[in-house]
Amino acid sequence: LALYGEARANSRGIEFGHAAEREACLAKVEVHRGVTYEAAPVVDGSGLAGAARDVVSPVDGRTVVGTVIEASAEQAIAAVAAARRGFPAWDASPVETRAAALDRAADLIEENRERFLALLADEAGKTLADGVAEVREAADFCRYYAAEARRTLGAGRVLTGPTGEENRYRHRGRGVIVTISPWNFPLAIFIGQTVAALVAGNAVVAKPAEQTPLTAALAVKLLHEAGVPGTALHLVPGDGRIGAVLTGHPAIDGVAFTGSTEVARIINRTLAAKDGPIVPLIAETGGINAMIVDATALPEQVTDDVVMSAFRSAGQRCSALRLLFVQEDVADRMVEMIAGAARELRLGDPRRAETDVGPVIDRDAAAGLKAHIGAMAADKRVVFEGRAPGGRFSDGHWVAPTIVRLDRAEDLTREVFGPVLHVVRYKAADLDAVLDRVAATGYGLTLGVHTRIDATIAKVCARLPVGNIYINRNMIGAVVGVQPFGGSGLSGTGPKAGGPDYLARFCLEQTISTNT
Ligand code: NAD
Ligand code: ALA
Repeated sequence: LALYGEARANSRGIEFGHAAEREACLAKVEVHRGVTYEAAPVVDGSGLAGAARDVVSPVDGRTVVGTVIEASAEQAIAAVAAARRGFPAWDASPVETRAAALDRAADLIEENRERFLALLADEAGKTLADGVAEVREAADFCRYYAAEARRTLGAGRVLTGPTGEENRYRHRGRGVIVTISPWNFPLAIFIGQTVAALVAGNAVVAKPAEQTPLTAALAVKLLHEAGVPGTALHLVPGDGRIGAVLTGHPAIDGVAFTGSTEVARIINRTLAAKDGPIVPLIAETGGINAMIVDATALPEQVTDDVVMSAFRSAGQRCSALRLLFVQEDVADRMVEMIAGAARELRLGDPRRAETDVGPVIDRDAAAGLKAHIGAMAADKRVVFEGRAPGGRFSDGHWVAPTIVRLDRAEDLTREVFGPVLHVVRYKAADLDAVLDRVAATGYGLTLGVHTRIDATIAKVCARLPVGNIYINRNMIGAVVGVQPFGGSGLSGTGPKAGGPDYLARFCLEQTISTNT
């Protein structure tokens, strides 16, 4: 694949349909059964002490995957101070040094693929297929941002101006960037925003989600092994309270946040309330993502794409389909086919190659989703509900794929972050009203369209300021460097992860004009 004249290939996955490849992968994943992991604050390359708590698997609610020492407020503040000290040398290092560290990190991530697959399954409940995609994405982020840094950063450019004057335009790091990430991509998003900030010359204080510190700790260990100095990258495990300590710290220069819209707003308010420099926020948040299916669409393809988009990763993707608009002429048949396909999904041990859907992340998530499904059931709106696995999984956090019918799209007022698909029927003449409704959610992350009418495609693309529009295909799994990903409005401040303009968000731009 040639991008910007630079040869770059995305990371290779595993073909689970290929028996030898599958068995080799499963055998290597099995080696990591029973291994326990540790996470602790890491400041200037050293692990800090504190009281440890168990990290318990969502798969069965019992297995201890490892232990985490969460940072105290003092340790979080020490991490910011250490990052301040580490910033100048890292920023002054050649771009090639920083990019080469990212390339090595990508290699190490791939070398540790099965270790990550085991950990992602145990800590986050990720199926092997989702885990493979996530490991690939993490390696892709490292290599892509390395290539982008070489292409766009460095010595800068000389811009033509009046005779007798040299004008140089260049990028440098902003300073200390706090990265705050969600649990649903504990490797790819954690590492993606961290390496983007690093390669631009910033020192980073990285705070992973409280549900998935073990994956983050392994990622940081590999980044240090790859050549990112301990002085430039510091790890601060902890929950939202530690996130608040970091974002409220007076000596940070930027926050890169991926997570819910609600928390992005809190961080935005925290940054705005501070005295001193104005601190930029990069926010990549959620969505009420819609798909529009008209009567010309191919039913079998729609079925596959809806099931994949709504239920893969147990619906725990920011990109996942939440609201399906189906033209009423084909709605009964479409819903029947989708429910039929959802019934075939296999829920269970995420470490097995044949498993399609794993658990949701924790007890609170499961309770919230069950309450939502319960309210829908009380209204007689549930048209399909799958079965959660029992036996050794009965204490795990399971929510089966569920389809509910809404009379009005307005009834879905928030992002329901799990395997629940909401279906609304529409009349062909009401397409404009459907588009108005999608716009009125205020979110703008992903959108799917299934139609064979070119004018519909053109109208949808022209009308809706959605970050990623998918036509006649599923709407998840954006590929780094190929489908830059991110939304606008309630879905974020608009950066495109894995896109050509992402690194600039982490840079200070400088123009030096010299009278020669
Ligand atoms: P969340 O907002 O609850 O938490 C995200 C991170 O913020 C965690 O690390 C958490 O500890 C931290 N946090 C919580 N309160 C904080 C505070 N007051 N100050 C600072 N940090 C705080 O989100 P989540 O449940 O971990 O993840 C799911 C959400 O993430 C969904 O809304 C999903 O759509 C979104 N998401 C968006 C993208 C994207 O690229 N747009 C990708 C993945 C997930
Ligand atoms: N980038 C992830 C996807 O597209 C969130 O599914």
